[in-house]
Amino acid sequence: MSTSPAGIRNVLNETRVFPPSEQFASKAEFNSMAAYESLYNESTADINAFWEKQARDHIHWFEPFHTTFEWNAPFAKWFVGGKTNVAFNCLDAHVLAGRGDRVAFHWEGEPGDKRTLSYSDVHREVCKFSNALKKLGLKKGDRVSIYMPMVPELPIAMLACARIGLIHSVIFGGFSSEAIADRNNDAQAKLLITADGGWRRGKVLNLKQTANEALEKSPSVEHCIVLQRTKNEAAMKEGRDVWWHDIVANESSDCPAEPMDSEDSLFILYTSGSTGKPKGIRHTTAGYNLYAKRTFQWVFDHKDEDIFWCTADCGWITGHSYIVYGPMSAGATQVLYEGAPNWPEEDRFWEIIERYKVSILYTAPTAIRAFIKWGDHHVDKHDLSSLRLLGSVGEGINPEAWMWYFEKIGGGRCPIVDTWWQTETGGIMMSPLPGAIPCKPGSCTRPLPGIVPVALGEDLQEVGVDHGGMLCIAKPWPGMLRGIWGDDARYQEQYWTRVPNHYLTGDNARKDEDGYYWIMGRIDDVINVSGHRLSTIEVESALVSHPAVAEAAAVGRPDEIKGQAIAVFVTLKNHQPDEALREALKKHVRKEIGALAVPDDIRFTSSLPKTRSGKIMRRLLRDIASGKEGTGDTSTLEDFTVLAKLRSDEES
Ligand code: PRX
Repeated sequence: MSTSPAGIRNVLNETRVFPPSEQFASKAEFNSMAAYESLYNESTADINAFWEKQARDHIHWFEPFHTTFEWNAPFAKWFVGGKTNVAFNCLDAHVLAGRGDRVAFHWEGEPGDKRTLSYSDVHREVCKFSNALKKLGLKKGDRVSIYMPMVPELPIAMLACARIGLIHSVIFGGFSSEAIADRNNDAQAKLLITADGGWRRGKVLNLKQTANEALEKSPSVEHCIVLQRTKNEAAMKEGRDVWWHDIVANESSDCPAEPMDSEDSLFILYTSGSTGKPKGIRHTTAGYNLYAKRTFQWVFDHKDEDIFWCTADCGWITGHSYIVYGPMSAGATQVLYEGAPNWPEEDRFWEIIERYKVSILYTAPTAIRAFIKWGDHHVDKHDLSSLRLLGSVGEGINPEAWMWYFEKIGGGRCPIVDTWWQTETGGIMMSPLPGAIPCKPGSCTRPLPGIVPVALGEDLQEVGVDHGGMLCIAKPWPGMLRGIWGDDARYQEQYWTRVPNHYLTGDNARKDEDGYYWIMGRIDDVINVSGHRLSTIEVESALVSHPAVAEAAAVGRPDEIKGQAIAVFVTLKNHQPDEALREALKKHVRKEIGALAVPDDIRFTSSLPKTRSGKIMRRLLRDIASGKEGTGDTSTLEDFTVLAKLRSDEES
């Protein structure tokens, strides 16, 4: 879909502003808008000098770099000539500084089993496992697929690879054997690390069985290491498969970290692309490590006494950057949880926060909307007074969900960092610095230091205030992807061709008069009604602000008269769907946005189709709305879970 120079119309009229409390700001590293602006201006006045100093001060170097940045468009190199090791920065640096006894993870399995691991414990386990990997014959640069539940051995496996220069590719534990085989083959992985099973909603997911099916179709994989987690039946293949506990049993806990070149690949992470074939996003060593660490410290205003809980799975970029590499480089103490948020009851998250006195919670809008639907009484049972900061990631957070999160979970005292970023960006790009930048519900606010966003119209000129355009990043940054595994042409085409010399994010955004950014959804998700371009998130936010609505997804469908008509899919809290409610919702949108945005079709559904990471699959809904898949009577309650299953592997 094209973008007009005037950009996409802004119809969301959110005017609430929440400055940080005196109490929060007084303890924050950046405690005023002036402090943020001075840091930001310093960073952009000379971007290379800024990152050079950051890298010298915040990364341990075996050998210092000689050149901060080399740009052979669109291929970037940061901190050229330097040698470092990410696992060293995450572990040895703390142990050597006498901080090895600090808790790295308070881990809780879904059935309720618990483990506490200090930084020294993780260091020891990583060294033993690295030694075992070497014994299997793996060499620097080899690719290793990891398909595991959320147990401490998952970050341990990632760090063990990083320690000896193996490139990991973590595959989310919910993926099918097809998806695993595709990723193994694309990366030509030599090893798969998995487990017998993992717990999810009281049941064992038989990971080894799925892994075995995948291995039948993965000729490059020579070995499979299996962690014993659930003790279910796991068929082991002689000569190929080994148990984790057997191969580490006699290994030494001494394994020096391999000095890695700044630009050596650290990991590949597969994400969906427009063609359906997953893209292996490639991140490298020093720039990624620095970016994950500093953005973690800035955005979460991290302090030694914090207990940080990022609820993402390590199979997503959020888990890579804000469970493993960012927080561990900063020596944070974290909570790690294996299972579902509604097991055994729908208050499991609140119970965990109370038990470990979590002070920073980082979760996704899809989870927040589920909590709202499940009801406040689950929250009311628990003491959440340890929380001081909340975060959101993965999708836009609708202002009403923001308000609930702020009031009900944060007790009105915790700022919310709405963090905008992508697998490709390696770390957070826009977010409030919580002690400095007042929040506006639904806005990711301002760019982080060194990040220069711009919203462009079809004519490639910057759009005016409050007009939406293609969100691009004008200057390279250390955490950026370095390419798509094995496909430089696709990397160039996808991110660097439509807009010369800019990284194209694929999202639309607008900037308001205060310089705050508002993400308007993916470029392809724009709805064009009678020549007015609306963003999906705005229509959805209006619907979610109605008391009966839990979630909403808006898409365009072809309409002879208007070009596109608006079709919305709505899930309800505790209401019965009927004609009266349908009319009430139309009226509500008219009041909130205006006649232009009133949905033509409203379909009630018990659930929305989502990607495995929780994003609503608007592409699929567009097909349904335009009648491409016969779904029968549009006014009945539909259950999309089957459709979601069919498509989710492709979309990841
Ligand atoms: O569309 C944006 C949306 O998620 C996309 C990136 O997805 P992924 O690579 O899976 O990474 C998710 C975790 C960083 C973006 O292009 N997105 C992510 N965060 C936000 C968001 N949209 C609006 N607001 C956000 N805070």
